[in-house]
Amino acid sequence: MFSKEKVEQFKTIPTPFYYYDLNVLESTLAEITKEAGTYGFDVHYALKANSNNEILELISKHGLGTDCVSGNEILKALDTGFTSDDIVFAGVGKTDEEINIGLEHDIFCFNCESLPEIEVINELAQQKGKVANIALRINPNVNANTHHYITTGLEENKFGINIWELEEVINALESFENLNLVGLHFHIGSQITDLTVFKSLCVRVNEIQEWFYDRNIIVEHVNVGGGLGVDYENPDENLIADFKAYFKVFNDFLELKPTQKVHFELGRAVVAQCGSLITKVIYVKKGVNTNFVIVDAGMTELLRPALYQALHKIEPLTFVSDNINRYDVVGPICESSDCFGKSLMLPELERNNIIAIRTTGAYGEVMANNYNLRRNAATYYEKEMIK
Ligand code: LLP
Repeated sequence: MFSKEKVEQFKTIPTPFYYYDLNVLESTLAEITKEAGTYGFDVHYALKANSNNEILELISKHGLGTDCVSGNEILKALDTGFTSDDIVFAGVGKTDEEINIGLEHDIFCFNCESLPEIEVINELAQQKGKVANIALRINPNVNANTHHYITTGLEENKFGINIWELEEVINALESFENLNLVGLHFHIGSQITDLTVFKSLCVRVNEIQEWFYDRNIIVEHVNVGGGLGVDYENPDENLIADFKAYFKVFNDFLELKPTQKVHFELGRAVVAQCGSLITKVIYVKKGVNTNFVIVDAGMTELLRPALYQALHKIEPLTFVSDNINRYDVVGPICESSDCFGKSLMLPELERNNIIAIRTTGAYGEVMANNYNLRRNAATYYEKEMIK
C-alpha cells in the first residue's frame, strides 16, 4: 500500500502522525455516489467518524449531506460546504442551545429520540416562530451482531423510541403545532459486516411502516442510519466497502410508497480506509513469553483497541529482516489496555522502525485525548503532504 518514496518521506516526519490518502477517499466517494445514485438514495456522512476540514470539504464536494450529533458538528458542516437542507441532527441528549442552532439554520430534520425531547423542540421552535421537521428515531429491536459498545438498536440501549411508546408519541404530536413529522429514523449499530442484518432491519422497517399506514400516516423520508462495516484485517484487498451489495439490500427488501425517499447515515465506511496512524518503534523489550514492541503512538491517539478490543492491521513499513518474530505491540501510556495487538507475527523490528496502523480514518483522530499530557498527533494528507 505504501510506496518506497512514501516510506522515505515518512522517515522525515516526527511521529506519531495521522496520514490520510485523499485519493482513497475520492474513489470511495465516487463509488458511494454511483451506487446510491442508482436508486435515488440520499447519503448523509456521519461527521462524528472524522471531522477534519480537508476530509469534510472533499465529502461535501461530492454532494453528500451530513448526519450531525452536536451543535458544533452542525456549525462545522456548514463551514465546510455542506448545506443546511441536507443536515440531519441525531442524539439522545440535544441541549436547548444545540436545538436552537439547528432551528436557526433551518436544518433538514431533527431525528428525535424521546417524547420529552420532542416537547422541547416544539417549544423552542414556537419561540422562534418556526416549524421544525422531525423524524422519529424508532428502536427496531434488531441485533446488529457487533461489539456491545456499538450496538444501538436493541430495547436495552438508550437510543430511540420503543414500539410500545409510539401510540403515545403520535397522539402527542397532534397538539404540537411547531413540528412537522417528515420521517422515520433507524440505526442499529456500527461495523456491521453481515449484510443479512440489514435485510432484517428492512423487514422490521416494513412492519413498522404498516403500523403507521394503519393510522393513515405516510412519512416522506425513511432514514435507515449507517453501520456498514469495513475490512480491518485485509484493508488492501477491500479498500472500498461493498456499497453495491449494501444499497441493493435496501432496494430489494424495503417496501416503500412511491413518494418515500430513503436516507443513509454512513460514517466508518466512508473514511476508515483512507487513514493510517504512522508510529515509530521506541524500544523492543524482552518479555517472558513474547517480546514487546513499544511504539510512540498509544491509546491517546487511537482508543479503539483499548475501548472495543478492536484489531487494526499493524504493518511494519521498515524492519531489520524478514525473520518472523512474535510480538505484542504496545503504546507508552500507563495503562495495560494500551495495546495494539498481542502475539502478532511480524518481521524483526528494532528501534526507529516505522509502523503503519491501518484503517484508522474513522473514529481514530476524533476520539484522541491528551491523557498523560500527551500532545495531539499531527495530520498529513496525501497529494501535497501538507500539514
Ligand atoms: N447514525 C447514527 C445515529 C449513529 O449513532 C452512528 C454511529 C452512525 C449513523 C454512523 O455509523 P457508522 O456508519 O459509522 O457505523 N466509536 C465507535 C463507533 C461508534 C458509532 C456511533 N454511532 C468505533 O470506533 O467503532
